[in-house]
Amino acid sequence: MSEEIFDLVVVGGGPGGYTAAIRAAQLGMKTACVEKRGALGGVCLNVGCIPSKALLQSSELFEEAQHSFEDRGISVGSLKLDLKKMMDQKESTVTGLTQGIEFLFKKNKVTYVKGTASLQGGGRIDVTGDNVQTLKAKNILIATGSEVTPLPNVEIDEKQIVSSTGALELPKVPKKMIVIGAGVIGLELGTVWRRLGAEVTVVEFMDRILPGTDNEIAKTTQRILKKQGINFMLGKKVTGAKKTKTAVTLTMEPAKGGDEETLKADVVLVAIGRRPYTDGLGLDDLGVEKDKAGRIIVDGNFKSSVEGIYAIGDVIEGPMLAHKAEDEGVVCVEKLAGQKPHIDYNLIPGVIYTWPEVATVGKTEEQLKEAGVDYNVGKVPFMANSRARANGFTDGFVKILADKKTDKVLGVHIIGPDAGTVIHECVLAMEFGASSEDIARTCHAHPTLNEAVKEAALAVAGRTINS
Ligand code: FAD
Ligand code: NAI
Repeated sequence: MSEEIFDLVVVGGGPGGYTAAIRAAQLGMKTACVEKRGALGGVCLNVGCIPSKALLQSSELFEEAQHSFEDRGISVGSLKLDLKKMMDQKESTVTGLTQGIEFLFKKNKVTYVKGTASLQGGGRIDVTGDNVQTLKAKNILIATGSEVTPLPNVEIDEKQIVSSTGALELPKVPKKMIVIGAGVIGLELGTVWRRLGAEVTVVEFMDRILPGTDNEIAKTTQRILKKQGINFMLGKKVTGAKKTKTAVTLTMEPAKGGDEETLKADVVLVAIGRRPYTDGLGLDDLGVEKDKAGRIIVDGNFKSSVEGIYAIGDVIEGPMLAHKAEDEGVVCVEKLAGQKPHIDYNLIPGVIYTWPEVATVGKTEEQLKEAGVDYNVGKVPFMANSRARANGFTDGFVKILADKKTDKVLGVHIIGPDAGTVIHECVLAMEFGASSEDIARTCHAHPTLNEAVKEAALAVAGRTINS
């Protein structure tokens, strides 16, 4: 049994934890990272962001080849889906990236400890698994992430009733798929299987999709996805599931009360949110405080209620996003090293990788109205953007919200081709406190999708040129 003293032991090797560990080592801290899943990268790289994007890309190509190539004079004959090969491509992307982090750990001299950590107090961490050992640390950073929120009476078996993890590795395309929850996972993975041939119905408790997203964006998203073939049943409460060997029958009732209905499918995806994961860490015994949702409570330095114990990422408050976890990891350890970095939580972009993509940053119209802030709206459709026309993807729009008095950009909401990439000039502009005039006066290359951002900025002052 070894007992080294580390400056920092990070528990969890996801985007938050591995990024924090590398940055800490770069800052001269003797750092270890304990991860129990046998691979680094957390949910994001192993069963989240990356495999889902690999399947979104492959299924998008499949759909384009089926429906768009012919219009461009490209004839590919009859198409055949090789799902196994598609899954292999996804797997090799994941493996390449997770092994890449092991390489980065070596390069930056982070000690990678494979096993499950539990905190024993006084800076002691017991690691169980193949390599039982005890680590000693001056500081501990908890980055243990999140897990799927279960739905009562709809038990996940990862075969017929799946979470996102099972939905990323279905062995065949279901004929009918029900997705419970019209959030980010439901729409992204519903899209994947719809493109590959499943008949997809999304059942949502609220009377709208994507709660929290700008209303107009959510409505447009629903309209476009419906046009693509996804069915929506809104305002429905799922009450139970019955399984036979080949089918699942869901029972549901209107959220506001009413008669029970049933819906049958071969696969049901439960995607009603995620919850913080702290099982087995021993936090209660140490007195680490959590809120009602089970998130570790931290102060502005990511310090928990216990001296020397910090937390970041999905396990604390805020959007459950990889880039939020990463930024928190960096800021946390830089603060530990005496630096004074900062995160603007208002400027964390959110992207939904359907096609078209949805990308948002800053305030929604609903939030501005509620706060009594007067604002101007500049909105232009991608139909008016020459690159979108040339590419053949004209669905969607850019909407910029700017303060009525100062013209400062307060929010940007985009649905459209590559919206997740296009939005970043807006995030940067907002980070520097830009006005819509600043964006409108910035020379944008032609022909690019980003010209729609410039045009929307011009629209704020009612002086568009191309729309
Ligand atoms: P995690 O990634 O959850 O990592 C925590 C790690 O800690 C895990 O690997 C776990 O094994 C380990 N661990 C837990 N307890 C212990 C212990 N006691 N000892 C040792 N190790 C432990 N976000 C985006 O920004 N963009 C996306 O496109 C995106 N797509 C997603 C798609 C899906 C299907 C899902 C499920 C999520 C997606 N997310 C996306 C969210 C993103 O994955 C999370 O926000 C992110 O992974 C959180 O990072 P984290 O470091 O806080 O935790
Ligand atoms: P979510 O919070 O995005 O959406 C859950 C949806 O389920 C909501 O619309 C909610 O109203 C609905 N719902 C809740 N209870 C329900 C019930 N009993 N019956 C029917 N509907 C119900 O959660 P989701 O999609 O599971 O994603 C979890 C997290 O993962 C998100 O917080 C997101 O940030 C992250 N993620 C991010 C991605 C991205 O950045 N592109 C992709 C996938 C996940």
